[in-house]
Amino acid sequence: MIRLGVNIDHVATVRQARRALEPDPVAAAVLAILGGADGITVHLREDRRHIQDRDVRLLRQVVTTLLNLELSVADEIVGIACEVKPDQATLVPERREELTTEGGLDVVTHQAAVAKAMEQLQAAGIAVALFIDPDLRQIEVAKILGAKAIEIQTASYSEAKTLTTRQQQLNTLQEATDYARQHGLHVHMGHGLNYENVREVAQIPGVEEFNIGHSIVSRAVLVGMERAVREMKDAIREARA
Ligand code: PXP
Repeated sequence: MIRLGVNIDHVATVRQARRALEPDPVAAAVLAILGGADGITVHLREDRRHIQDRDVRLLRQVVTTLLNLELSVADEIVGIACEVKPDQATLVPERREELTTEGGLDVVTHQAAVAKAMEQLQAAGIAVALFIDPDLRQIEVAKILGAKAIEIQTASYSEAKTLTTRQQQLNTLQEATDYARQHGLHVHMGHGLNYENVREVAQIPGVEEFNIGHSIVSRAVLVGMERAVREMKDAIREARA
C-alpha cells in the first residue's frame, strides 16, 4: 500500500487571493481524510503566500493520521516546525520568485545548512525527509545526513514532453528508488503527479508515499462546481419564496 498525502496548499491559495476566511484548508483536510487521505501535507513558505501559521497549528490538532510539513531550512520556519511538531518534516528548496517548488533540494551543496535544520527537527522528535532529485549522489548524502526518508521529485517525469523522455525519467525514478532502498531510506515521491501519470510511478516497487496537491485540488474545484452552483440557486430561490 502506498500512502497518499494530500497537499492542500492551493485551498489556501484561493483563500489568500481574497485574504478571506474561506475556503479553509483545515476543513479541506478533514474532508480529504474522510475521502481516504493517509496524510495531509502543507508547505509553510517563508513568504506565507498560501498556508499560514494558524493553519499549521490547527492542522496539528485536527490531523491525527500523518501531518507532513514541507519547509525550507530557514531558521524561523524550522523553529515553528519544532514547536508545532508535525509527524514528518520534508525539507524543500525555496525561492521567492518561483511558482512552485522547482527541483529538489541540493543537499550536496547545502549539506551544512541541511544538517543544522535536521538536527533541530530531529531533536524535537520529528521524522525528516529530504526532497531531492533522483540523483545517486544526492541520495548518498541524504543517507550520510541521517534522513529517515527521501521524497524523490517527480517533476522531470511529469513534465516529460515525449514518450521516450517519459520512459527515461521513469527508469531514473526506478533506479533512484532501488538505490535509496539499498541505503535503508524510505522512498516518497511527489510533484506534478496527476490522475494519469500516477499510474506508472505507482508500479515502482518500494515507493511508500505520494504527496499530491495541484491535480487533486484542481479536480475538487471541478467536481464540486455543479453542486456549489445548484446550492447558490437554491439559496436565491428560497429567499424569494
Ligand atoms: N512534494 C513537494 C516536496 C512539493 O513541494 C509539492 C508542491 O508543494 C508537492 C509534493 C505536490 O506537488 P503538486 O502540487 O504538483 O502535486
